[in-house]
Amino acid sequence: MSLQTELLHIFSGIPFTTRSSAELLRSLDGFQAREDDLLLVSYPKSGTHWLAEIMKHLYSSKVALTSPIEFGDVSQLEELNSVTSKRIIPTHLSYHMLPRDFTAKKCKAIYIIRNPKDTAVSLYHYYRDNPELPTIESWSTYLEMFLHGEVVCGSWFDHIWSWEQHRNEMGTLFLYYEAMKKDPFQAVRRISSFLGININDNEIHEICKKTSFSEMKICAETENSDASPPVCALTPNKRLVFRKGTVGDWKDYFTNKQNRLFEETYRAKMAASSLAKHLCYEN
Ligand code: A3P
Repeated sequence: MSLQTELLHIFSGIPFTTRSSAELLRSLDGFQAREDDLLLVSYPKSGTHWLAEIMKHLYSSKVALTSPIEFGDVSQLEELNSVTSKRIIPTHLSYHMLPRDFTAKKCKAIYIIRNPKDTAVSLYHYYRDNPELPTIESWSTYLEMFLHGEVVCGSWFDHIWSWEQHRNEMGTLFLYYEAMKKDPFQAVRRISSFLGININDNEIHEICKKTSFSEMKICAETENSDASPPVCALTPNKRLVFRKGTVGDWKDYFTNKQNRLFEETYRAKMAASSLAKHLCYEN
């Protein structure tokens, strides 16, 4: 793999962009969590911004949606410490890199999963459009990198598995991107009841409207991206995020052979995963 070392560096076996400094990553374990911290966890391109926007509406202005815990240099931890309200902290970290104190304090986490074929396609476009990621040669070279976990944030398979294995150590709600697309109302209801937020049907409908793909895309194009903290550690530029927002885009990219190879890898790596059994690949 060409890491284009000026853009990526490896920490604990995982490629990170230079937006996550090695010093910060080394310091993470000293971070002090608070019992009411809420983590928004995802592998990149799984719908992190969507989930974060739903959170903002559910809590209105009573909480601080911070930048990802792994974003920036070591001063990030100080900045998070200085937040006085309840913190909603996004992260793409694998479970093994998460500061232990989140587990010790039994914090809640919401993990959004997206089927890995669409995730791979979405990340492929992100590699092409995001100047903060290395250049990739072609879809087929990139797909091999994805399957081997040689892309930013490492292996999709390992990420899901790491969080699934530890699902009972923190209160973790797992949400599927595809189920959210199919029934956003139900998704918002599940999230609100997980968080103990009272909300009526009209308010849920309103949140679904405001967080639809089209609404969020328009907002990202018109708002000043620098005004709010980034939700994803890979770039602060929200305009790169809202591409298609569909399920099943992978069918336009995978050849039959690539699909077979992907399925083989998937079966081998995810055989023991119960989360993986419920993934949906179709519209
Ligand atoms: P595509 O590239 O397939 O369009 P993340 O926020 O984790 O970076 O994920 C980005 C992916 O989620 C992109 O997928 C983006 O279009 C999609 N997405 C963002 N907001 C969405 C929304 N409100 N509804 C559905 N998909 C959304």
